[in-house]
Amino acid sequence: TTTPITDQLRRPIRDLRISVTDRCNFRCTYCMPKEVFGDNYAFMPARELLSFEEILRLSRLFVSLGVVKIRLTGGEPLLRSNLHELVSEIRSIDGIEDIGLTTNGVFLGQQAKGLYSAGLRRLNISLDALDPEIFGKMNGRGTKPSLILRNIDQARDLGFEIKINMVVQKGVNESEILPMAAYFKERNITLRFIEFMDVGNDNGWSLAKVVTKRDILESVQSVYELEALGLASQGEVAQRYRYKDCQTEVGFITSVSESFCSSCTRARLSSDGKFYTCLFASKGTDLRTLLRNGADNSMLMSVIKDIWELRGDRYSDERQEQSAASRNKISMSYIGG
Ligand code: GTP
Ligand code: 5AD
Ligand code: SF4
Ligand code: SF4
Repeated sequence: TTTPITDQLRRPIRDLRISVTDRCNFRCTYCMPKEVFGDNYAFMPARELLSFEEILRLSRLFVSLGVVKIRLTGGEPLLRSNLHELVSEIRSIDGIEDIGLTTNGVFLGQQAKGLYSAGLRRLNISLDALDPEIFGKMNGRGTKPSLILRNIDQARDLGFEIKINMVVQKGVNESEILPMAAYFKERNITLRFIEFMDVGNDNGWSLAKVVTKRDILESVQSVYELEALGLASQGEVAQRYRYKDCQTEVGFITSVSESFCSSCTRARLSSDGKFYTCLFASKGTDLRTLLRNGADNSMLMSVIKDIWELRGDRYSDERQEQSAASRNKISMSYIGG
C-alpha cells in the first residue's frame, strides 16, 4: 500500500539514490582529490555499512511512501561485493518501476554479465575524456580510456541501455567536448555533459571553472544540428537534445546555470544509512541506528515521512539567486551524487 507524501514545495518523493560504499578506485580531481583521499584516508569500516538486508528493508519503506525509481551509486558501487544480489532483490520489490546504476565502468568487464542476469538494464557510466593523458589525470589513477570504452561496448552488446556522464571543467577537458560528442554520436549512445558542481568542500570549485550548457551547446552546434526534446520523465535531471541527422541523443545537466530544484523528487541514502533530502545537505538523519536499535516499520516510516514533509531544500536555486550561505557540505563520494 502506498501513501504518497509531498514536501513543503509540494514535491513528492519518487527517487531514491542509494550509496552502497564510500570507497572508489578512482581519485577524480573534482570528487575525491588524492590530496584529501590519500593512502591513509579512513573509509567506513564494514560494520558501519548498511547490509543488503537493511538496504532492502529501508527501500521497501521508501517505496511505500512513493518511491518508484532506485539508483545505486557510491563511491564506486561495483566495489561492493555481490552487488548483483542486491539488484535482483530490489527488482523484486513491488512498486519499483526503474532501477539504475552509476559507475566509473572499470569493473564492468567482470560484472556486467552478472548484473544483466540479475535484471539490471540501465547503466550511467562516467567518462570525462577520450584523450589518455587528460583522462588519466582526471581520474587520478592514470587509468586509460580504452579500458572504459571496451567495457562500454561489451555492456551495450549485452543489451544495457547506457548513458555516458562527462563532467566538464574549464581548462581541464573542454577540448574533449567535440571528440566525445563525435564518438558517442557515432555509436548511438547518449552522452550527457554535466556542469561542474560545488559539491563537498574539497574539490576547489569556483564559478570560473564551470563550463555552462550554453558554452557546450554552442560548441556542439558549431558542428552538428541539434533539436531540443521534451522531458523524458518526471524528475529527469538532463535537458535532452537529438542530433538532426540520426537518432542519437545528447543531454545537459545544468545544476549551476539552470537549476532544477523545483522538480526535485530525489531522496538519498548514504552507505552508513543516513537519509539526506538534498545533494548539498549538511546533515542527514541516521536511520541505521534506529534500525539497529529495533525500530519497527511504522516507526521508521513515520520518521522518513516527517522529514520529507518538512523538506524545503533548493540549494542550487539558492546559489543561483546568490543566497546560499557557504556551508559545510557532504562529499559527493559519500552521498553518491
Ligand atoms: P537517470 O536520469 O535515471 O538516468 O539518472 P541521473 O542522471 O539522475 O543519475 P546520475 O547518477 O547519472 O547523475 C548524473 C549527474 O546529475 C550527476 O552529476 C549527479 O550528481 C547529478 N544529479 C543527480 N541528481 C541531482 C540532484 O538532485 N541535484 C543536483 N544538483 N544534481 C543531481
Ligand atoms: N560536479 C558534477 N558532477 C560530478 N560528479 C562527481 N562530482 C561532480 C561534481 N563536482 C559526477 C560523476 C558521476 C556522477 C554520479 O556525478 O562524474 O558521473
Ligand atoms: Fe569515484 Fe565517481 Fe568520484 Fe570519480 S566521480 S572519484 S569515479 S565516485
Ligand atoms: Fe534537489 Fe538539492 Fe539538487 Fe536542488 S540542489 S535539485 S533540492 S538535490
